[in-house]
Amino acid sequence: MQKIEARERFEGEFELPGDKSVTHRAVMLNAGAEGESVVTNALMGEDCVSTCRCMRALGAKVDIDGTTLRVQGVPRFRSGVELDCGNSGTTIRLLTGFVAGKGIEAKLYGDESLSSRPMRRVADPLALLNANVKTTDGHAPVYVFPNRLQGAEVNLKIASAQVKSAVILAGLSADGETLVTEPVKSRDHTERMLAAMGADIAVDGNTVRVKKSTLKSVDVRVPSDISSAAYFMALGALKGKTLCKNVGVNPTRTGILTAFDRLGVKYSLLNKQVSGGEETADILVEKTCMHAITLTEEDVPSLVDEIPLIALMCAFAEGESRITGAKELRVKESDRIKTTAELIRNIGGDCEELPDGFIIRGKKKLAGGDVESYLDHRIAMTAAVGLIASEKGGNISRPECCAISFPDFFDKLGVKKS
Ligand code: S3P
Repeated sequence: MQKIEARERFEGEFELPGDKSVTHRAVMLNAGAEGESVVTNALMGEDCVSTCRCMRALGAKVDIDGTTLRVQGVPRFRSGVELDCGNSGTTIRLLTGFVAGKGIEAKLYGDESLSSRPMRRVADPLALLNANVKTTDGHAPVYVFPNRLQGAEVNLKIASAQVKSAVILAGLSADGETLVTEPVKSRDHTERMLAAMGADIAVDGNTVRVKKSTLKSVDVRVPSDISSAAYFMALGALKGKTLCKNVGVNPTRTGILTAFDRLGVKYSLLNKQVSGGEETADILVEKTCMHAITLTEEDVPSLVDEIPLIALMCAFAEGESRITGAKELRVKESDRIKTTAELIRNIGGDCEELPDGFIIRGKKKLAGGDVESYLDHRIAMTAAVGLIASEKGGNISRPECCAISFPDFFDKLGVKKS
């Protein structure tokens, strides 16, 4: 249990950990490239450690020194390997496409939560490229067997960067051309990094075209993760003033700023830069009175991991908010529609579950209370924000799950471990 005290004000300047999505890709893609690369400000959360472990099991050299990684690509990967992906959906889904492209045999598996998440969403599109991928009743363990890949045209039913990336990674080794189209554009870190590595890749709207390519390693300076900064940005809006430094503001990730615009949150982007093909900025957020918002399917991909937090902010906003088109939340690390609604209700808010989202009736003040994290890092961190902003605070169960994406979250928050 982690005790969280309510606070009158929350203020400060924060350096947040490296971006989880960019770190996964920097390790995986460089492991499959010619040469040695240095990745700085890498996230060493448990999910990215899972990717490092898997790439080593495949034969790549990954040296870890704090948040600096040295990755040595290998021309030929080990076959017949077992890849433990831990809790990480990004690791298992991207690696399934990556491994299918390498003509080797592998078993990919993970923990209980990962084993309950859908894997046909990668196996089915990869089969269109002639990949031989078997799931276990649609779940992990996933087995990949060698097959010669053939380029294909893939139309995804869901907007998912994990699935899109799996197809792109397989497409890099396929004969001919692979086209992958998604209904709404999801995060494009894979496309950007591959372009920087010399891949034959082009993007046209929601379609990515890729051809067989040899990759050259590239050094990556990982921006801070907007999905981790989000908790501190929300605390600025609810309780004072925060400045989050050097945050990645790739437009496919900044849906939270769109939500802030609609909520009426006062924020500004300072010190805008581009580093390693990714935009960054310092984000200054100040306390505001927020009003109800509507978010729909088109909004979801660019803020998918922030929805529990945005729903919480709606619980403190004036009026009735409606978030729909978010049924993907049902298959995250927990069923985040259920766990978010429960979190909000447990701290005194009014949140109704919909099959694909929520109706949240805002109250100016929430009492606080005890929250079950369901071992979902984003639920635990959202709960911490809600309790700091509440009247009386409360407790979070199994808070250690924050280490998945933000190992020093409670230290940064200035909360004593209980
Ligand atoms: C991610 C994509 C998203 C996101 C996850 C990271 C990625 O998942 O929720 O935390 O790095 O590609 P989906 O592709 O399932 O939407």
